[in-house]
Amino acid sequence: MAFSTITDLDVAAAQRHSSELRSRLLTSTSTTYTTGADGTGNGERVLVLGGTGYIGRALVPELARRGYRPAVLARNAEAKNDAEFADAEIVVGDPTRAQDVLDAVAAAPTAVVISLLSGRRPNDAEECRLVDHDAIVHGIQAAVAHEVQQFVHISDFGAYRPELIPQVYKLQVEGELMGQHHGALDWTIIRPTSYFPYLAMTFGDVKNGEPYRIFDHGEYSVVNPIAREDLAEFIVNHVLREESYGRVLPVGGPWTDDNVVTLKGAGQMMFDVTGRPESWNVVTMASWDKKIARLTRMGRISKQLKPVAYYLEAAKYWSVVDHVAPAYGTRTLRGFMEKLKDREFPTGSFRERMKSGTNLMPTDI
Ligand SMILES: NC(=O)c1ccc[n+]([C@@H]2O[C@H](COP(=O)([O-])OP(=O)(O)OC[C@H]3O[C@@H](n4cnc5c(N)ncnc54)[C@H](OP(=O)(O)O)[C@@H]3O)[C@@H](O)[C@H]2O)c1
Repeated sequence: MAFSTITDLDVAAAQRHSSELRSRLLTSTSTTYTTGADGTGNGERVLVLGGTGYIGRALVPELARRGYRPAVLARNAEAKNDAEFADAEIVVGDPTRAQDVLDAVAAAPTAVVISLLSGRRPNDAEECRLVDHDAIVHGIQAAVAHEVQQFVHISDFGAYRPELIPQVYKLQVEGELMGQHHGALDWTIIRPTSYFPYLAMTFGDVKNGEPYRIFDHGEYSVVNPIAREDLAEFIVNHVLREESYGRVLPVGGPWTDDNVVTLKGAGQMMFDVTGRPESWNVVTMASWDKKIARLTRMGRISKQLKPVAYYLEAAKYWSVVDHVAPAYGTRTLRGFMEKLKDREFPTGSFRERMKSGTNLMPTDI
């Protein structure tokens, strides 16, 4: 899992690569997908696992709007009071328990199962195994047992270069679907790039006048993130679409100036949108590498430090690996930041984010 260290040569070459890649994207048209709602259902029941998370809260209403009958397996019965689930059936249960998933599929004839499951603490290897692998496999097994027509696995673009714990499990599930390890089942795998809140995580800090952290020049990689509304529309386009069975579909947001960014570019957008003067906290990648190595060594003897080492590695991963996929949708990262501008949301310190995982993300925008 450890990265190799970065030399001065890599530092300069990476910046050149990002600049060339970004220019190429901005002067090309992505023609893989056509944006727009395509296809409607006829009241078919679609069970969403992980439907109470960030993407689920956009996907479930989209399924209802498009003529499907969404059902959500929720750990918390209170979900039935949430506006996003007004047109959904809530089945109370825990996807880490195989019987709960079987019961949720068996409760009524089910045409499709979609998994959006993901552990909320990506540095907790045990939770990742339970959620990013075992719970999804429960969904696959229940789908096979009840002759569901299609299983849609929302994986991760990171599966093209898996380094982090959840990515490795996501890839493992993909392999099990492709190899039909759990029985015959039509599947579709979707690999989205990043979501907007992850690129806007430090928006509140910038708004409060704090500097934005970058590694060296801050231009090691490029990403075209996708809005959850656009991803929801994309997912529903592939529901019960036979041409999408047996396919892996990478997808990101528009290839436009306000959506294709390096990490420094995301920071510049924040300064621009908040009207704050640019202020950078430049950390050298060489010093970060040393920190990772030291914490990894210490993590071998300290249970508390192991997850910290993981977060430092994850911060590096997201800063150096390109996440560029064919474009879908119209919404942009800048548009998302414009919506954040007048909002208060708990930004959380680095330490708080480590403790609470993705729960600190603004999810109602
Ligand atoms: N974040 C990104 O930028 C990114 C990029 C590409 C792909 N993805 C993938 O896209 C999918 C959707 O992401 P998202 O942001 O919507 O995820 P999310 O908001 O973190 O939601 C995760 C879902 O999994 C459930 N879950 C988490 N831990 C659980 C546990 N221990 N036991 C049972 N259920 C548990 C949550 O239930 P509760 O609500 O009850 O906690 C929730 O429904 C995920 O597969 C993710 O890996 C994410």
